[in-house]
Amino acid sequence: MRCFLAVLGLSLCLGCSWGQRKAAEAEPSFRLAVVTDLKGYLEPCGCTSDPLGGIDRLAAQIKTLREGDAPLLVLVAGDAFFDEAPLEPARADQATRNAKTLVGILNRLEVSAVLPGERDRKQPRQTLESLQAAADFPWLSMESDTNVIIENVGGLAVAIVGARKGADRDAIRDAVGTARERADVAIVLVDGSRRDANRIGAIEGVDFIVQGGLDQDAVMPPRPAGKAWVLHASRQGQGLSVVDVYRREKGDPFADQSEWSRSERSAQLDRQIQELAAKIDAWEESGDIDPKDLAPQRARLVELNKERAGLDRPVAASGGNAFSARWIELRKGSPADPEIARLMGEHDKVVNEANRVAFADLEPPPLGPGDVAYVGSAACGACHQTEYAWWRSHAHGVAYLTLQQRNKEYNLDCVGCHVTGYGEPGGSTVTHNLDGQLQNVGCESCHGPGAAHVKDPEAPIVRVTPESTCIVCHNEQHSDLFDYEAYVKTLVVPGHGRPVKTPKPR
Ligand code: HEC
Ligand code: HEC
Ligand code: HEC
Ligand code: HEC
Repeated sequence: MRCFLAVLGLSLCLGCSWGQRKAAEAEPSFRLAVVTDLKGYLEPCGCTSDPLGGIDRLAAQIKTLREGDAPLLVLVAGDAFFDEAPLEPARADQATRNAKTLVGILNRLEVSAVLPGERDRKQPRQTLESLQAAADFPWLSMESDTNVIIENVGGLAVAIVGARKGADRDAIRDAVGTARERADVAIVLVDGSRRDANRIGAIEGVDFIVQGGLDQDAVMPPRPAGKAWVLHASRQGQGLSVVDVYRREKGDPFADQSEWSRSERSAQLDRQIQELAAKIDAWEESGDIDPKDLAPQRARLVELNKERAGLDRPVAASGGNAFSARWIELRKGSPADPEIARLMGEHDKVVNEANRVAFADLEPPPLGPGDVAYVGSAACGACHQTEYAWWRSHAHGVAYLTLQQRNKEYNLDCVGCHVTGYGEPGGSTVTHNLDGQLQNVGCESCHGPGAAHVKDPEAPIVRVTPESTCIVCHNEQHSDLFDYEAYVKTLVVPGHGRPVKTPKPR
């Protein structure tokens, strides 16, 4: 049977690969849901154009998977609860509350195992003990380099091996060896580099490796390492990798039947083929290449084309072990689990209130010699009425409301960029904002502190605001579309930076 597109002579693959369908017909032996480098993220900040992630969205996916036709193992590797170690003392309380909420949510998701990362393990002992006490799931490799748990899934014994950062390879080999005596499938959870994963892949008996520790946004499709397959799932809960595992033969290596891998490899080959073909054309045209040197390049092109054509052919129906992986990105429109969303909302309220009380007396640094105090935008509005009216209706003028609507105005991860003069001498703190005058991204965020100019308008104040002023807040993580020229243009309007249009005399 051939794909109808191929019969029609089209090379465009719609992802209906015969091999994949063949595999999907039978029920998987079990299914993996893989999350890597979560780093304590409950949700994305919401600042960017397409915020990815949200543990409530992750929960909705896991719920659906649990209702599916195969037993599910949820595996978490790499820094799971913290993104910083040691914690800044002022942030420790918020970060620890965050980790505790996350543990509670992972309990509800019935996570099978977590391999904490180095930043997790470096938290104070007391913090870790209380988090572990609250967890219903095993934490791997906390006491030693490596340890093993065996899960019974759908009649198969699956060994889950932890390998913390820098774990001794012989210890991992021994652990895998012992595990294999009792288990049908072995999965190693790693906190480390690509190279660490490759080393573990070289150990006999490893089937899958869950790659924590890369701490990168770009997600990798399944990647071979020895006879094992490395699984990855971006970071900060931006998505999850779901792997259907078909275990049919004892000890056989698993074959990758994922459309995900096929399409990535196809795209990669297409690029390579195009580049090499263009180079060969150019060489031939210029004529200044030795035919002896051209032949191997032509041979390589043939090889690449052969591999590319192979990817369009259906995967041979194999009776052996196989898996099919897919990537589920958690976007704005992805469904969210309402119960988990409610817990997150409760968490935000608790953190907000705790910080409001804990930092009630936190004053900004005092003014040094030559420093000028912040006064707030309303004081500027007394003279600059048109500018003030413009600002009130601009996003900057409601930046604090954005946080208040989410119970995040006292959240240490948020407040700094949604207020004016944060942490500056005579400026604001998480709780102090001149009775509201320094809430929002005010005039002085761009024009600098204005006390002197307000007192005496002859006193100079910054007029032109360079890019360096903006990117304190408009950085890559929080303003992905930021382009200074384009953004600043939208600020310079009649009434602010340009004269107010007056009706032309008739
Ligand atoms: C007492 C009235 C008054 C207040 C209050 C006031 N300004 Fe001004 N401002 C002026 C006058 C007058 C000028 C000079 C005339 C002009 O260029 O419009 C000026 C000029 C400016 C300029 C242009 C400077 C330049 O070099 O061209 C900026 C920017 C500015 N003000 C920002 C602010 C900000 C920010 C605040 C609040 C912190 C503020 N002003 C408060 C009266 C005031
Ligand atoms: C103190 C932090 C801060 C600084 C400094 C800052 N911004 Fe912003 N900016 C924000 C925040 C926060 C928002 C979003 C507010 C909201 O909608 O809640 C924003 C929104 C904007 C928007 C609206 C974007 C949209 O999609 O509607 C523009 C345009 C903008 N900023 C331009 C600038 C430029 C240009 C500069 C430098 C001259 C600058 N900002 C400096 C924090 C800042
Ligand atoms: C490093 C500075 C920074 C931090 C920290 C920050 N923000 Fe923002 N935020 C921005 C900027 C800049 C924008 C505007 C981005 C743009 O339009 O390009 C923005 C926009 C937003 C928006 C979109 C507003 C809208 O209506 O379009 C939301 C929501 C938001 N932030 C919430 C948060 C929350 C919640 C946190 C804490 C978890 C946070 N921000 C932390 C800088 C920051
Ligand atoms: C996000 C940054 C930003 C904020 C916030 C902002 N400005 Fe400006 N302002 C600018 C830029 C950019 C210009 C144009 C500078 C130029 O190229 O001349 C400007 C120009 C001005 C000028 C000089 C031109 C004129 O209209 O006379 C004044 C006065 C001024 N702003 C006042 C204010 C006041 C008052 C506020 C608050 C109500 C404010 N600005 C808020 C960025 C900002």
